[in-house]
Amino acid sequence: MAPPLGFVSTREDAAARVAYLFSETVLSVQPNLKSAPVVGFQHALDRMVYHKVRGIVAKRGTLPSVYPVRYNADPFLTAVEELGRKTFVSVTAASSTLPAAITHLAKLAKFPVVIHVSMSRNFADYSEITSLRQVGFTLIQSFSLREAQDLAIASHMLAIRTGKGVIHFFHQPEGEETPIPFEDVNQIEKVFDRNSLVYGETEGSTVGTNVYWNDTAGVVAEPAKEDSSVGKTNGEQANGTIDLTKVEYKTADIFHATETVFELVRIAVGRTYRAFEYHGAGNADTALLIFGSSAQVFITTIAQAGWGDIYSKVGVITVRVYRPWSAEKLLSVIPRSVKRLGVLEQVHRQTTKWGPVLLDVISSLNSDLSKSPSIPVIVGYQLGHLDSKTIRQALRGIVQNIQSEAPIQNLLVGGRTSHDVDTEYHLAQPELETAYSKMLYNVFADKLSILNALDKDDAGIPRTIASNPEYGFGAYLAREEEKKALMSKLQRAIKENAFANPETNDLVSRWLLLDSENSSKRSDVGAELISMLETDGSEVASSLLKHRAHLLETSSWIIGSDAWSYDLGNSGVHNVIASGKNVNMLIIDSQPFTTRSAQDASHRKKDIGLYAMNYSNAYVASIAVYSSYTQALQAFIEADKFAGPSIVIAYLPYNEETDSALTVLQETKKAVDSGYWPLYRWDPRPGENGLPNFQLDSQALKKELSEFLERENHLSQVARRVPVFGENIAGSYGSELRSEQRKKAKDAYSKLLEGLTGPPLTILFASDGGNAENLSKRLQRRAKGRGLGAMVMAMDDFPVEDLGAEENVVLITSTAGQGEFPQNGRNFWEAIKSSTDLDLASVNYAVFGLGDSHYWPRKQDKIYYNKPSKDLYHRLEILGAKQMVDLGLGDDQDPDGYQTAYPGWEAELWKALGVDGVGAAVDEPPPLTNEDIKIQSNYLRGTIVEGLNDESTGAISASDAQLTKFHGTYMQDDRDIREQRKTSGLEPAFSFMIRVRMPAGVSTPAQWLAIDQIADDKGNHTFKMTTRGTYQLHGVIKKKLKPAIKAINVALLDTIAACGDVNRNVMCAALPYNSALHKELTSYARGISEHLLPKTTAYHEIWITDDNDEKKLVAGNAVVDFEPLYGPTYLPRKFKIAIAMPPYNDVDVYANDVGLIAIVDDDGKLTGFNVLAGGGMGTTHNNKKTYPRTGSILGFVNKEDVIMACEKIMLVQRDNGDRKDRKHARLKYTIDDMGVDVFRQKVEELLGFKFEEPRAFSFESNIDHFGWVKDEQGLNHFTMFVENGRIEDTPEFQMKTGLRQVALAMKGGAEFRLTGNQHVILSNIADEDMPEIKRLLAEYKLDNLQFSGLRLSSSACVAFPTCGLAMAESERYLPIFVSKLETYLEELGLRHDSVVMRMTGCPNGCARPWLAEVALVGKAYGAYNLMLGGGYFGQRLNKLYRSSVNEEQALEILKPLFKRWALEREDGEHFGDFLVRIGVIKPTLEGKKFHEDVVEEDEE
Ligand SMILES: Cc1cc2nc3c(=O)[nH]c(=O)nc-3n(C[C@H](O)[C@H](O)[C@H](O)COP(=O)(O)O)c2cc1C
Ligand code: SF4
Repeated sequence: MAPPLGFVSTREDAAARVAYLFSETVLSVQPNLKSAPVVGFQHALDRMVYHKVRGIVAKRGTLPSVYPVRYNADPFLTAVEELGRKTFVSVTAASSTLPAAITHLAKLAKFPVVIHVSMSRNFADYSEITSLRQVGFTLIQSFSLREAQDLAIASHMLAIRTGKGVIHFFHQPEGEETPIPFEDVNQIEKVFDRNSLVYGETEGSTVGTNVYWNDTAGVVAEPAKEDSSVGKTNGEQANGTIDLTKVEYKTADIFHATETVFELVRIAVGRTYRAFEYHGAGNADTALLIFGSSAQVFITTIAQAGWGDIYSKVGVITVRVYRPWSAEKLLSVIPRSVKRLGVLEQVHRQTTKWGPVLLDVISSLNSDLSKSPSIPVIVGYQLGHLDSKTIRQALRGIVQNIQSEAPIQNLLVGGRTSHDVDTEYHLAQPELETAYSKMLYNVFADKLSILNALDKDDAGIPRTIASNPEYGFGAYLAREEEKKALMSKLQRAIKENAFANPETNDLVSRWLLLDSENSSKRSDVGAELISMLETDGSEVASSLLKHRAHLLETSSWIIGSDAWSYDLGNSGVHNVIASGKNVNMLIIDSQPFTTRSAQDASHRKKDIGLYAMNYSNAYVASIAVYSSYTQALQAFIEADKFAGPSIVIAYLPYNEETDSALTVLQETKKAVDSGYWPLYRWDPRPGENGLPNFQLDSQALKKELSEFLERENHLSQVARRVPVFGENIAGSYGSELRSEQRKKAKDAYSKLLEGLTGPPLTILFASDGGNAENLSKRLQRRAKGRGLGAMVMAMDDFPVEDLGAEENVVLITSTAGQGEFPQNGRNFWEAIKSSTDLDLASVNYAVFGLGDSHYWPRKQDKIYYNKPSKDLYHRLEILGAKQMVDLGLGDDQDPDGYQTAYPGWEAELWKALGVDGVGAAVDEPPPLTNEDIKIQSNYLRGTIVEGLNDESTGAISASDAQLTKFHGTYMQDDRDIREQRKTSGLEPAFSFMIRVRMPAGVSTPAQWLAIDQIADDKGNHTFKMTTRGTYQLHGVIKKKLKPAIKAINVALLDTIAACGDVNRNVMCAALPYNSALHKELTSYARGISEHLLPKTTAYHEIWITDDNDEKKLVAGNAVVDFEPLYGPTYLPRKFKIAIAMPPYNDVDVYANDVGLIAIVDDDGKLTGFNVLAGGGMGTTHNNKKTYPRTGSILGFVNKEDVIMACEKIMLVQRDNGDRKDRKHARLKYTIDDMGVDVFRQKVEELLGFKFEEPRAFSFESNIDHFGWVKDEQGLNHFTMFVENGRIEDTPEFQMKTGLRQVALAMKGGAEFRLTGNQHVILSNIADEDMPEIKRLLAEYKLDNLQFSGLRLSSSACVAFPTCGLAMAESERYLPIFVSKLETYLEELGLRHDSVVMRMTGCPNGCARPWLAEVALVGKAYGAYNLMLGGGYFGQRLNKLYRSSVNEEQALEILKPLFKRWALEREDGEHFGDFLVRIGVIKPTLEGKKFHEDVVEEDEE
């Protein structure tokens, strides 16, 4: 293969060559002036044409064409036309040509066009790039000659892969650089798939896909429309071709594609590129993100710094992928040690107070606080021109400022131009600015005329101009008159042949013939005419020159504030619109979103946009520069072009000029997101369908606007045609109504009660788990039955200041944490507790508390028992309220729990209220149980579909939340921010967990990649490998739930029965050393799973059907489903099956409802299974009726009979399990209640044969064995350590990215096996593929197994923030806890000794804590029950050693025990066994005896 035959020495040449190779047509944009020399890219292009170089994408037998296009010939329009012919087009241009072309660029972004942009050689202005940030292009930056070549290749591959536009930009330094060889076409062709060249218009070209409309959200936010194509469906077909017609790419998809392309480039050229790059010390305290041409100079200077230099340990971050902006990737490169971050932007024409990149950074750091490094100080700088002489001093100044106590924002660093370079480093504070008027200046430059500018002679535009618009409008009319007079003069002069030069005559006629719609041409001709008049010499020419300004077209603007919105009809706004004149109005609204409702209703602002639209003759746009800069720019250009009145209303919310960037950003975001300030553009001229052109640029629309659009008949057609639009209308109605309803709820209640005769009763509750709430609601029903006017609400929803006006108040509260109020009563209690002026003298009250006298069993903790109710009871007394009855105390320890004490207390209450004699209590509807929900659900349908479509809330109904579990998804909310959202009046941040059904935990690399991508696109960018060896996604919001489940199904996986009262994911031993046996066992796991799958068609109906599917969802009696195994009520409780292969018990076979222990003969052939039944983990704290249990052995079955054995065990449980008490419904209780022998007999009756005697077997451990092994077939397997199964990228550890690369590199029959210990095995790797896999593992540090034995054997459940049942941290805390023990263990020489340690956030036991040698089971935040003495291979349960210990206490207990183990253990004796032998803990030999022999110190 021929090597490259030449060298390039400029970045423009390098990019131009690649552009030529990857295009059929190259448009080379040249400067305006005819006489200017051919510049930049053109030299290289000319050479390619001259040598007739063949392209890579040009059709066979044709050569790429190169067209130089002049800047003034609307070059980007030419590109649009070329693309219309469906050719592969690229453009080479200078950055200065871009901003003016923004409207064409918006169209081009939807085609696979690449624009190579070179920034000015002198001192580039990066605002030419940042102004394009929302146009829809991917923006890739290169920093060197070599990169320009590589990333030019990447840009073209990306455009072709995604069908979307890419802008590749770079700073072109003066002169030539050290030459590099031409690009290597052979290498490129190796990674570039020619088959992918299926050219077609993307769907996006017909539907408005504002991929980047939400500027500040970056990749973390989804674009406007939901994606129907995910994972492999991203248009990528099985044969590797890309059918662009089917693809609609989203921001996150594009980002993924970018990473994939970078990887392909790495394979081709051996160089790695990432979206963001960090350079410098890993422990830097300060870092600088540099967006400008001197980034490299900064990096080099810091690298060469001496010890004494203040900046020697400063890190530098460079941005290679500017759009899509990935907040996650940025966060992942910033070291955790960084506490101060400077953002340096080389943006000359900065229109907003804060630079665009600074805003990106701020919102990134805000996007996910849990993942963000804690950077308290972010300082923006304007980056001026710096060179090697000034850089050191500049760096010193930057660092001094950022490290000072009060850093100055927005400092200018360096000179304004390359000629303005002081040898002295200088700092200057920029003038205050007004974002919108600056934007107008930038867009229209000399053409701009502000009609009501207060100080016209001053070049600076005044800040918010509040002068009245009549003045401006008057000025406009006067100018029109002058212009008219000039035109008559010109006409006369032509007639009279008054000019000296006949050519002047021609030019005047040309000027007169051009109408105002052709304003740019008219200006061009006008400019020529002025120079002609200047040389004409005639008298008339010099008199005409006095009016020269009118020969040039202007863009006339009146700027004002929203003060005009109060009385629109009488305002100048009305005059302007009514006149129909070509005047543009910019109206700035600065009222912050959060203060809008404080307005006096009689003096409310009117909606100017709506007012103008009603006129139907004005162009109207609503913009917000801090939400979408590009949309604002587009609106200005469109308003200018519109030959009639244009009204642009612009949002710039601030309380004070000194508001921080974040405040303005957040205010804008809230207003836009909520629909209060929708972004839109309205052109009244009929569009292609005869309808006015309404472009909604944000997601939500406020009610008034949607009403207007609905009223417009033709627009309701639009709504129907463009579903997004319709959705928005419906959505905004819903949310407005809901908030309205909430406000009225209390009033309505009171009104309702007025009609009732009996005395009023206000019942207030505080409840976390629902007991206190249910009790309160029941009390209300009963009170009504006694004729009382009863209302019930959560304490926090009740205005405390109204309490004094109530007559009878009942307060029912449970106890949370350590004697704390439940969440929904905390604010109420705080107010009551601290109130000094609350007068409750006329209030009668009663309090009932729910608690657990044993929750904190130690003597000193007795104060926590029912503390909130006691506190409340006493506080109300102090405030003067009168007790109706004594304090009632419900105790979980009583025989019937709180129900024991309650009836007596309630009877007293009726007496006190004088209604005890009133007979007939209402017939209370029995509470809805899970069994009711199942039976009423019509085979698991419920109202899930309706719930998913309800956009007014992120939640689904409580009963649907039970049903969706059967479909593999749980509703959760982010508990970290629950409180915060509540105080902001928001509903909890609901999202969904999705669990995949994946028998045996085996998945293909393609499936791994699909899950990885779904986690990014639809979830929280991480996923978890669960303790049942499957994938679990978190943080999926309701809107994305269906697409996510659909995408999982597209990846040939599903989520059916992954949760719910059915047989769940069937686990299987991972067996890396024996592939044949693993394959056979896997087939049994799959067989069992399939056989026991629910048969309802609800799953497909709800999740897999298309929204546009003609087939309507069937509900009610129309559907006759049949569940041959389950029947309509399914099982009483969840059901779990696992297969173990001795001597490894990595699936914890004893913890399952059915445990199958594989038995092989002497030849290693599978003969059958020993069957265990009745294992289970879930318990409830302090409820001794609940306990964990290990499975009991039923006997041996041949392998042919095993599926039937599982089925029959399940059926006996179906018919005998407790359906009344869910806490007693698992198979373990059924078996204990009936006895193992009776149970076995019932199963055998159904089977028709008896179990054989169990076969001998022995287990050695229940943990995974890490590292590489070779199986009997010569294939290799690597068991990798993944702490607690969490797959994510962190700044220190790019695990998710690394595993993605590994998945991409896995070949043949290679597969992933997920283990029950939450680790992963890379399986079936052929010898020849080993080097690459090993290289990747090493590159991403995935091969690190140098962990302590304790860590390698530990596991934790998810718990906070997503699990709704968590009482304490688990996954986030166990690694920290282990670290605290590790050093000590090392000192004892126990570093490599395995100890099975598990942690869960609650006693449900997802990580099987009861089988661990040491376990911490969450009880309350920071408090755990410490369990000891489990068997090392999962055969024996542990036992409670101390309840409610905190970290310090746990360490205090464990350390001496470990020490004794180190000193006193017998050979090979495991920790759990040792503790039992020395009598520290009694062994738990049977589940039923779990609570026996517990020694609890200090217990009464
Ligand atoms: C995390 C947690 C902490 C608890 N702490 C206490 C406590 O400190 N004192 C107490 O008397 N009861 C405590 N309890 C018991 C509950 O108050 C009791 O179970 C009650 O019935 C729960 O009612 P709810 O469902 O309305 O929240 C606690 C329960 C939980 C789950
Ligand atoms: S053990 Fe409890 S806290 Fe942990 S994931 Fe399971 S239910 Fe949630």
